Amino acid sequence: MLAQVPKLERRVLLAAIVVSVVHLLLIAYAALFLGISVPDCITDKAAFAEPAFITHGPKHYEVHLNARMWMYQPNYIKLPTGSRLDIFLSAKDVQHGLFIEKTNVNLMAVPGAIANATVTFRQPGRYQMICHEFCGIGHQDMQGTIEVVDGLAAAEVAGISKEAIRDANAGAKDELAAVVETAPSDPGKKLYETKGCAACHSLDGSKLVGPSFKGLYGSQVKLADGSTRQADDAYIKQKISDPMSMVVAGFSPGLMPKMQVSAEELNTLVDFIKAQK
Ligand code: CUA
Repeated sequence: MLAQVPKLERRVLLAAIVVSVVHLLLIAYAALFLGISVPDCITDKAAFAEPAFITHGPKHYEVHLNARMWMYQPNYIKLPTGSRLDIFLSAKDVQHGLFIEKTNVNLMAVPGAIANATVTFRQPGRYQMICHEFCGIGHQDMQGTIEVVDGLAAAEVAGISKEAIRDANAGAKDELAAVVETAPSDPGKKLYETKGCAACHSLDGSKLVGPSFKGLYGSQVKLADGSTRQADDAYIKQKISDPMSMVVAGFSPGLMPKMQVSAEELNTLVDFIKAQK
């Protein structure tokens, strides 16, 4: 039968078979030896929709990364060299992207869906997480950091609540319970960065998506309804707790997300803004 096939066609058939087999072998090599995985289909989305960071064991972590205008939560992760990180990416508002420098992580964050990838950080260094999907006026500032460090005993995370940082082996092994939020040197500055304020409010007077914090405290703020308000404690607290209230003249309402901040954090933020003279 094969003898009836013209010689040229036989060669083309053979070439097609060889190319297919080589591709299959390359896929197997990538999966088994390079640790590259194809995104999975996740049907139970609710479990991954909120930000979380979970320790599974030494050098094995899981992050539920939440993309939103214009930040990632958590936005800072410090890992020991050689750590495996299972990433489950969700989007809170619009479509975002996640590219992690120097890795093959390149995901879309689509509202209502979960994207999944696993990456092992073999080399120490700084890996920026970058949003590469145009998601609005603050898109170019949407980024986070993964820092991979030699000699680190446990991961450190910032940008999410303490409750969202969990240990899957809690109680089983004490040394693994050491996952902590990074100790803030300046608690106000840390909140400014981790809560995402930095994406829209500058400290140097330049106008970004929102008004600059420089010289804000005590100033007279012109509101969109034509009235004027002094930027005192009560004003700043209300703007953080209820961003839709008292829209400032010249700025679009509805761009600032409602923050999860405790009363204590609110005071710290007010003090921080007060200090930006
Ligand atoms: Cu998020 Cu661009």
